[in-house]
Amino acid sequence: MINEFPPVLQGIIRDHDDLRSAFAALIKTGMEVERKEYEVVRKIVTSLEKHLREIDELVGRHVRKEEEGVFPVLRTVLSAREEPGNTIFEVLEAEHDHLEKALASLASMCASIGSGADVSPERVDLVVTKLRVVEAEFLSHFMKEEKSVYGRAGEVLTEDDIGRIEQALDSL
Ligand SMILES: [Fe+2]
Ligand SMILES: [Fe+2]
Repeated sequence: MINEFPPVLQGIIRDHDDLRSAFAALIKTGMEVERKEYEVVRKIVTSLEKHLREIDELVGRHVRKEEEGVFPVLRTVLSAREEPGNTIFEVLEAEHDHLEKALASLASMCASIGSGADVSPERVDLVVTKLRVVEAEFLSHFMKEEKSVYGRAGEVLTEDDIGRIEQALDSL
C-alpha cells in the first residue's frame, strides 16, 4: 500500500499507518477495563493518558509536515490543474483543528478520571466510546487525504515539485 505513493510522501503515509495502529491499541487497552478492580482501572487510565500524549505529539508533528511541508506545493499544483483545488485543503486543515481539539478533550477526560477518587470502569467506558468516535474521524481524514490528495500526487508532481517538498520537510 505504502509503495503506491511517491517516495517523498511515504513518511506521511507511514505516520497514518502508525496512528491507525496506535488508536487500535489504545481502544484495546481501554476495553480491558471491564469488571476490573480499582488499582487495575487506575493503571489503565494512566496508560491511556500516556499513549494519548504520544498520539498527540505524533499528530502535532504530522500536521506540521502536511500544512508546512506538503500541502503548500500540492495546493499549487492541484489547483492549477483544477483537480481537487483549494477547497479540499481548506477542509483538511479545518479537520486538523477539529481532530487536535478532540484529542485534547480526550486527554482532559482521562486526566479528570485519573485525578479523582471515582476511578470507575463506567467512566473509562465513556472514554472508550469517545475514542471510537475520534478514531473513526481520524480514519476518515486519512482516507480522504490518501484518495483525494496523495493518491493523485504521483501523477501530477514534477521533479521540481518533489524537490520543493523535500526541502520544506527538511527545514521543519
Ligand atoms: Fe491531515
Ligand atoms: Fe495526514
